[in-house]
Amino acid sequence: MARIAVLSPAVADQIAAGEVVERPASAVKELVENALDAGATAIDVAVEEGGRLSIRVSDDGVGMERDDALLALERHATSKIRTAADLVGVASFGFRGEALPAICSVCRLVIETAPADGAGTAIHAAGGVVSEVRDVARRRGTTIVASQLFYNAPARQKFLRGARSEWRGIVDAITMVALTRRDVRLTLANDGRQALALPSAATLRDRVAALWGASVADRMVDVEDVRGAIQVSGLAERPGDVGTASRRTFLTVNGRPIRDAGLLRAAEAAYKSTLAPGLRPSLLLDVVLPADAVDVNVHPAKAEVRFRDRWVVERCVEDAVRRALGTFDASAALGVRRWSPTAPAWTTARPADVELLRPAPSPTNGLFEPRGDDAALGGAEVEVDVGASLSDESWRPPEPVFPKPPAPEPVPTQHVPPLFQLRRTYLMFEHEDGVVLVDQHSAHERVLYERFMGMLERGEAPSQRLLFPLTLHLAPAEGDAFEANRDVLTRLGFEVEGFGGHTLLVSSVPMPHPRFDAERCLRETLAALAGDRSPSAHARHERLAATVACKAAIKAGDELSPAEMRALFVALGETRLPAHDVHGRSTIVQLSWPELERRFGRQ
Ligand SMILES: Nc1ncnc2c1ncn2[C@@H]1O[C@H](COP(=O)(O)OP(=O)(O)OP(=O)(O)O)[C@@H](O)[C@H]1O
Ligand SMILES: [Mg+2]
Repeated sequence: MARIAVLSPAVADQIAAGEVVERPASAVKELVENALDAGATAIDVAVEEGGRLSIRVSDDGVGMERDDALLALERHATSKIRTAADLVGVASFGFRGEALPAICSVCRLVIETAPADGAGTAIHAAGGVVSEVRDVARRRGTTIVASQLFYNAPARQKFLRGARSEWRGIVDAITMVALTRRDVRLTLANDGRQALALPSAATLRDRVAALWGASVADRMVDVEDVRGAIQVSGLAERPGDVGTASRRTFLTVNGRPIRDAGLLRAAEAAYKSTLAPGLRPSLLLDVVLPADAVDVNVHPAKAEVRFRDRWVVERCVEDAVRRALGTFDASAALGVRRWSPTAPAWTTARPADVELLRPAPSPTNGLFEPRGDDAALGGAEVEVDVGASLSDESWRPPEPVFPKPPAPEPVPTQHVPPLFQLRRTYLMFEHEDGVVLVDQHSAHERVLYERFMGMLERGEAPSQRLLFPLTLHLAPAEGDAFEANRDVLTRLGFEVEGFGGHTLLVSSVPMPHPRFDAERCLRETLAALAGDRSPSAHARHERLAATVACKAAIKAGDELSPAEMRALFVALGETRLPAHDVHGRSTIVQLSWPELERRFGRQ
C-alpha cells in the first residue's frame, strides 16, 4: 500500500479548523466578524455553558441567497476577495473563506439567512456534512448556531476549559469587537443572562465608558495625531492613574484588532520618566496607514500584521502618545506660546528683565543667575522674551555683524504673571483657567531632564569652566564607570581628565543653579552609571539625564529669588512637565476658577 495519500476533505477541514477554531471564543470571533463584514448594524450573541454547548450569532446584515449559503460552507469560498491582488488593503475582516467550513467541520451547525425580509434558507450540517436545506421565513440577516463544539474531535474537546474560563474568552473576544466597531450595537448573553448590552457609540471613549464605566474613560486622555500618511488615535491612561486599576490594552491597525508587543512598547516609551519603574499604562490605539504599508495575511486568526517599515510606525505611535500626554504639559497649563526656534534669539530687542537672568561671570551656565539683586520684582508683571531662551546656553551677546542680518522675525514673547513661592517648595501663579501650583523641584528636574537629553542626543552642550578645577578621588567602580562613560559625561558638561590612578581633574561642570553641588552630583552619577545595564544608548541617555536632573535640580526648601522664579516659569513653558513625576507624585496642581467659586459658595 502506498505510504502517502491525499487527506479526505473532512480530515483536511478538521486540521484547518485547528488553526482557526481553537476555543469557543475563536468561533464567536469568526462568526461576529462575518456579521460585521455583512454590514450588520446590530449583532446579538448568546452562548450556553460558556460556548461549550452552543454559540448563537444573529445579525441584521445583507444575508445570503441559498446558493451562496451552501457555498459558504465550502473551503476557500469567499465573497470578499477574488484575486491575490485584492489581498492588498483588504478591508473586510474575513478574506480566506475558511472560517465557516472550519467551524462547520467540528460542530453541529444551523444557518438561517435571508437577503431580504421574508423568504430565507435554513441549512443544517454536522461535521462539515449538510443534512437538510429548507425554506424559512425571517427578517433580513443571518443567524448561525454552532453547537457541541468538537463533538467529533475528542482530542480537541479534551483541551476545552471549564465553562467559566471559556466564557471569559468570549467576553474578551466581544470586547475586542466592541472596541473595534464602536458603531455597531452589540449584546452578549450566557445561559440566558445578559452580560453586555452596548448601544452604538460615537467615539471610542463612549464605548470604553459603556464597557467599563465612566471612571475608566475619565482616566484616559485622547490621542490624535497624523504624521504623513500615518494616523494614530485612541486613548492613553493619564500617568498619575497608571497602576491604580487593572491594565487594558487594545490595538487596531487599519480597523483590524491585532496583538503587537512592539507597538505597545513604543507607546509605553512615551511615558518614560513619568511612570515609576514597573508600571504599565492602559492604552487603546487605532493606527491607520496606507494599505500597502501593512500585510494583514500573516497569521491564521489574523491577530498579527506585518509592517513594511515597522520602525516608522513605532515612532509615530510613540510621538502620538507623547503628544497626548503633553496635553498636561506645562505649556498647556501655563497657556504659553512656544518659542519659535527659527528666529535667532538675538534678533529681537531684549526687555530689561532678561539682563537680570543673563549668566553672570561666575561659574553658572544653567537656569539661574547668582542670587541677589532684584528682590523688589516679586509681584510685578513682566514680559519676558522666550526667544532669549533663559536657559542661557543658547544666548550669546549680539555680535556686530556686517552686513546687517535680514529683518528680524518677531519672536513670541511670553507673559509672565506674578509668581509666588509657598513654603519654599511650590510656585504659585494664576492663569486664564485658574490658580496653578507647581512643585519647584519636579519642575526644575523636568527642565533639566529635557535639557540634558538635548545635550546627550543632539549634542547641545555648553559647559562652564571652573576657575578652580576640582580634584576627585574615585573608588575603583566609579573610576571604571567614568572611563566607560567619559563621552556622555562630556556631553553633559562635565569636562574631566583622568589624572592617574583613580583621581580626576574636573575643569568644567554643568551649573544649573548656584546651590548646585557639582562634585556630589558627579559622584552620584558615576555610582548610578556603575550599576547601569541599559539595553540601548537611548535608554542609557534617558537614565543618565534623569539621574543628573534629579541631583541637579533645586530642592524643596530652596528659596528662589523672583528672577529665579520667572526663569523657572519660562523654562517650564518649554518643557512637557507631566502631571506626575517618576515616583508618581503630582508635579502640578490646578484649581480652576469654577472650582474656587464653588468652594466659596459663589456658584
Ligand atoms: N453572517 C453572514 N452574513 C452574510 N454572509 C455571510 C455571513 N457569514 C458568512 N457569510 C458569507 O460566507 C462566506 C464564507 O465565510 P467565511 O467566514 O468562511 O469566509 P470569509 O469571511 O470570506 O473569510 P475568513 O475565512 O477569512 O473569515 C463569506 O465570504 C460571506 O460571503
Ligand atoms: Mg469570515
